[in-house]
Amino acid sequence: MLPAKPSDRLVGDPLAQQARWLDTYRLDLRIAEQGRVISVGDGIAWISGLPSAAMNDLLALEDGSQALVFDLNRDALGAMLLRESSGLTAGMTVRLSGQTLNINATDELLGRVVDPLGNPLDGGGAIPAGVRQPLERPSPPIAARDFVHEPLYTGIKIIDSLVPIGKGQRQLIVGDKGLGRSALALDAIINQRGKDVLCVYVLIGQKRSTVVNTVDLLRAHGALDYTALVVAEASALPGLKHLAPFAGCAIAEYWMERGRDTLVVYDDLSTHAKTYRELSLLLRRPPGREAYPGDVFSIHAGLLERSTCLGAARGGGSMTALPVVETEQGEIASYIPTNLISITDGQIYLDADLFASGFRPAIDIARSVSRIGGRAQHPRVKEEAGRMKLDYLQFLDLEVFTRFGTRLDAAMERPLKRGRLLREILKQRRLAPLSIEFQLAWLTAFNDGLWDQQAPETMADALEQLRRCLTQSPLNLTQGREHWSARLAAEWARPEPAA
Ligand SMILES: Nc1ncnc2c1ncn2[C@@H]1O[C@H](COP(=O)(O)OP(=O)(O)OP(=O)(O)O)[C@@H](O)[C@H]1O
Ligand SMILES: [Mg+2]
Repeated sequence: MLPAKPSDRLVGDPLAQQARWLDTYRLDLRIAEQGRVISVGDGIAWISGLPSAAMNDLLALEDGSQALVFDLNRDALGAMLLRESSGLTAGMTVRLSGQTLNINATDELLGRVVDPLGNPLDGGGAIPAGVRQPLERPSPPIAARDFVHEPLYTGIKIIDSLVPIGKGQRQLIVGDKGLGRSALALDAIINQRGKDVLCVYVLIGQKRSTVVNTVDLLRAHGALDYTALVVAEASALPGLKHLAPFAGCAIAEYWMERGRDTLVVYDDLSTHAKTYRELSLLLRRPPGREAYPGDVFSIHAGLLERSTCLGAARGGGSMTALPVVETEQGEIASYIPTNLISITDGQIYLDADLFASGFRPAIDIARSVSRIGGRAQHPRVKEEAGRMKLDYLQFLDLEVFTRFGTRLDAAMERPLKRGRLLREILKQRRLAPLSIEFQLAWLTAFNDGLWDQQAPETMADALEQLRRCLTQSPLNLTQGREHWSARLAAEWARPEPAA
């Protein structure tokens, strides 16, 4: 029983105040549910006595810990811990916080490293309050979406020419451990410098050293100014690892809704799926294929469906997603990779043999596709890349025969030679993104046969020479093919000035 206006007690004459207090005194019934922790461990808690709790409700525990309702049973509910104090024990009281999960989204997140609840992890100050953006929400309706129509350049030769990505596309990066999946995603982020694309890099279950290296690398390349990092380290609570991609998505959504182009990297969703499996098994949900719970597919589909290109009426923002997934022994038919392949708009497949042979980035062109990026590709790049791809695929077929020592007729020599040149051209160092003008220049030069007399080993120098030429007198995409062709031929005919 409480006074209706407790603040009244503090002002005016005490006796008059008391009278007023008695006048306004009303009996009021307040019901507050109070639950109790039954058991706790492995990042989850079993709780009894909260009959009105619903899925994804946030629970406040007596010691200040926080948990999220994840499983509802008749007599107890299972919750994943999001914050755990060392004093958390069975028997503690629990109440519904009345909130759903959200993250503080603001431009101040750029250059910062936060956990999936928005708490800074980089030792910097508190992040000023912005908009509370829900972690879970439905994807934009079809009427709000536009077709993917603008390219998002990664600066990587193979991707921009053969597996192009459009703004709003979901392109999976798939491959075994250590083949350069994160390197591709980081290169793509670094290439967004000065292109007005805001990036979110989500690191799920990675070592702290990897997190530190990633932040250092982004800083060294000036990419932190337009990038926010969401991190749930390997040692973080499984609940936080589970929420990390949703937090990253919510931040990107905040910018997308304000008409900005965004790029979000989920590194990686295999770890995410394993965390989800761990939580589900601990909460005794029935296991399905490879012991993953049946709803892991819809969890990932729900996440990736939120990436889109919004129509002009909704501000025209976009969220491009680069989810990363790990395979074992190159097996893309296993459960999580196949699921993700079916949800995304294409995949970039990294191959262990190519990596071992020194072809890096080790992208297997025959097994990589972009189902919608072609629509957003510049028509000139698309045309030149189409011709180049045919040459390369023909070369790969022919090369198989040369391995058996088959005698090939003289007409086959040229495609073989050009293919070998192409293989050298397509190699690219890390952290060396290339402009789309340069990409079109090398494609045109190759298709015009300007390098046909070149030895494959000298291709790296030839490309460097081309880059220098373009820096001195740039070409632009509005000039016609004849102009490009003539310029490149003239540059090539000119002797290289002595260094
Ligand atoms: N284009 C490249 N040229 C040369 N080396 C590369 C290239 N891309 C990646 N690498 C090297 O490959 C190694 C693995 O790269 P990275 O860590 O990106 O792979 P990953 O698939 O993300 O691995 P992990 O399984 O550890 O997450 C690194 O040493 C990196 O320097
Ligand atoms: Mg990695």
